[in-house]
Amino acid sequence: CGDTRRRAGAARGNVQRYLERFHLSLERLQDVSARLKKDLVRGLGKHSHQRAPVKMLPTFVRATPDGTENGDFLALDLGGTNFRVLHVRVVEEEQRVLKMDSQICAIPQEMMLGPGEELFNHIAACLGDFLVSRGLKGQTLPLGFTFSFPCEQKEIDKSILIRWTKGFRCSGVEGQDVVKLLREAIHRRRDYDIGSVAMVNDTVGTMMSCGYRDRSCEIGMIIGTGTNACYMEEMRNVKRVEGEDGRMCVNTEWGGFGDDGSLKDIQTEFDVMVDQMSINTGVHTFEKMISGMYLGEIVRLLLVKLTEDKLLFDGQTSETLLTPGKFETKFISEIEDGLENAQNILTELGLKWDDVDSRVVRLCCDTVSSRSARLCAAALATVVNRIRTNRNVDRLKTTVGVDGTVYRKHPNFSEELQATVRLLAPKCDITFLVSEDGSGKGAAMVTAVAQRLALQSRLLEDSDGDDEEEEEEEEEEENK
Ligand code: BGC
Repeated sequence: CGDTRRRAGAARGNVQRYLERFHLSLERLQDVSARLKKDLVRGLGKHSHQRAPVKMLPTFVRATPDGTENGDFLALDLGGTNFRVLHVRVVEEEQRVLKMDSQICAIPQEMMLGPGEELFNHIAACLGDFLVSRGLKGQTLPLGFTFSFPCEQKEIDKSILIRWTKGFRCSGVEGQDVVKLLREAIHRRRDYDIGSVAMVNDTVGTMMSCGYRDRSCEIGMIIGTGTNACYMEEMRNVKRVEGEDGRMCVNTEWGGFGDDGSLKDIQTEFDVMVDQMSINTGVHTFEKMISGMYLGEIVRLLLVKLTEDKLLFDGQTSETLLTPGKFETKFISEIEDGLENAQNILTELGLKWDDVDSRVVRLCCDTVSSRSARLCAAALATVVNRIRTNRNVDRLKTTVGVDGTVYRKHPNFSEELQATVRLLAPKCDITFLVSEDGSGKGAAMVTAVAQRLALQSRLLEDSDGDDEEEEEEEEEEENK
């Protein structure tokens, strides 16, 4: 036992050299937050936007739910862990969003990298099957489309894909209107139709679905396969959209933070390798340092390096450990949850481990996930601090709607994230609300709010018309 402890101590010393690069002090995080703060402004600016790494995309969502929304909706959710089709009901009296039914459709790996037309045909086919099996085919329901990729939104139902992220790279879609591609695929089938469409980023869906439960929810954050956040920005600062009054939800696309090289000093050699091995090198640098699609791979590369340096497994690696993608992100959560899990996973990976090895592996997982939580906190703190300054208040009380596998599944990610945000945004009281299926229900919610606003503005136009008519009538009277 004494020998084990001594070896553990020595190994830890050497291992620490590698892990140090992942530790970010509070001052460092403040510095990262200051860089992001500048990038938010660059993204919002009319002229600086073009070259800004953080895109700050207007969403044309100008209002959060007011509780009067209702109706039946379809929702599609593409870009998270699964592709899903949903039937959602918004009930005004109960102020509730009910998921009536949903179905997961697999998207084969080849399809994620093939022609865009095939992807959209597949989506239309899944939706068609769903409508038939649920007896909804005759109805033309409005549809909320959660499409979790960076899009330049022209209107609520016109949205141009800027670029694919997270393992998708279908040809012929970047630069195109995604709603149009969906509608065309549906029309090609000629067997069903859909009503009005609202395009939604998953962050916006998350904010909106939480907004129904808590009216002060004005931020949506995802830390899952990818990462991103949206928040309600003052219209006067959204320089690329006309109008000064009120607020609009801005999709930050903070995953792109660092794409201009601004995070080079904190990237480790493992981050650089992950980026180089990805299908979109140089794109979404921040996302690659913190989100679920990449965390497992960062840990795998770190373990390979430590093995090469004979600091793990007696220098003996395994075929599985050497294969990209084989160390899944969910292993990180499982390993941190208990040493026994760690040992089972190492055995499954074909490694010969001893007690010290399993402890070192656990330390590596903890280091990488902890950096992710702290960096995510730095980004979130930047956003809440900005909202506080925008509103010119001493203290800001606000709610963040959150979703994503990393936040939900990791044993202490949420705790570490929240504690760090508190330190970095000391003048903000933040409530965290885990969204209940924001991508599904939230999309329906955005569609419902859009319908309510359209209806209200139609009523307004009608009543304006009435006034005009009355005036005309009065004039006629006077002329008589
Ligand atoms: C996408 C975002 C999305 C995020 C979380 C990123 O890769 O660019 O649009 O919100 O993943 O799903």
